[in-house]
Amino acid sequence: MTVETRKALTLVDQFGRVATDLRVSLTDRCNLRCSYCMPPEGLPWLPRQELLTDAEVVRLCRIAVERLGVRQVRLTGGEPLLRPGLVDIVTELATLSPRPELALTTNGIGLARLAGPLRAAGLDRVNVSLDTLRPDRFETLAHRRRLPDVLAGIAAAAEAGMTPVKVNTVLLRDLNEDEAPELLDYALEHGLELRFIEQMPLDAQHGWRRDRMVTADEILAWLSSRHELAPDDRERGSAPAQTWLVDGGPARVGIVASVTRPFCGDCDRTRLTADGQVRSCLFSRDEADLRGGLRGGATDEELAAAWRTAMWGKAPGHAINDPSFLQPSRPMSAIGG
Ligand code: 5AD
Ligand code: SF4
Repeated sequence: MTVETRKALTLVDQFGRVATDLRVSLTDRCNLRCSYCMPPEGLPWLPRQELLTDAEVVRLCRIAVERLGVRQVRLTGGEPLLRPGLVDIVTELATLSPRPELALTTNGIGLARLAGPLRAAGLDRVNVSLDTLRPDRFETLAHRRRLPDVLAGIAAAAEAGMTPVKVNTVLLRDLNEDEAPELLDYALEHGLELRFIEQMPLDAQHGWRRDRMVTADEILAWLSSRHELAPDDRERGSAPAQTWLVDGGPARVGIVASVTRPFCGDCDRTRLTADGQVRSCLFSRDEADLRGGLRGGATDEELAAAWRTAMWGKAPGHAINDPSFLQPSRPMSAIGG
């Protein structure tokens, strides 16, 4: 096969980026209410019949792997552990050829029970969200008293061998920003790879303010108050996190500075929502419907072609810093992290 034909079969866009990392949202529901994501009362969830079935999810992932060059599938939500068929979906995805890397982004609730079965089904890696180690703050931030479940979930993931377990933290001004060094101590102590994510305008309530978000520079300053950070000269590639060596290494800490240091030029992601829409970017303002085709008898090649067309139109960047920026019409929980 020539380079040209192989390229024609990948999810390439007008700017030459090739998407090999697929993020699939398995549900828009969640058992937490992180304030940077959704309001305390929750959201009107997608009706069940609009959600892709397990078989539909697996079919679209198979098309992505076999026909579109996807090499990693990350399952997200909402909270993906709430999806009843999750373990079976992972089992099926592990049989695809070439076998994709299988990862999960979760809030950790339920992971204590599911880490073992997920690992046995073929899950390679997990990212667990953890914004605070203090129960009272957890309740303020996520409106639920579930911190012990999250910590048990992280421990179970490490126990099940999904190492290094990655932990994602969002810092909020005057709420948990001062906890950055403590979270790093916790990660170092437990052999976890910690990454701070700058808060992005993806909340359903549209409460994000540029001047309220905690920036990468501030995060570095908080961390440097207790630890020595040195730039990590490892090749970053398309990884969203920029990393630093902590106290001489080998431990590292990462910052995903989507807002203040955008990395859109190296993006290798494509996204599928729980209701079967392709999004070329978290911040896309349009989606391409695959569910209609899927349920209307489209062939694998027709679905693959629709997916390629959707990705070809991927915007060069998210434009969060542009005065004309408009938040996507769907919140993060419906798009998938
Ligand atoms: N900004 C930054 N990160 C967010 N997450 C959810 N909403 C936002 C937001 N508005 C994080 C979650 C999780 C990951 C998928 O994204 O905490 O760790
Ligand atoms: Fe749930 Fe994740 Fe949103 Fe928090 S950020 S409410 S854990 S979907």
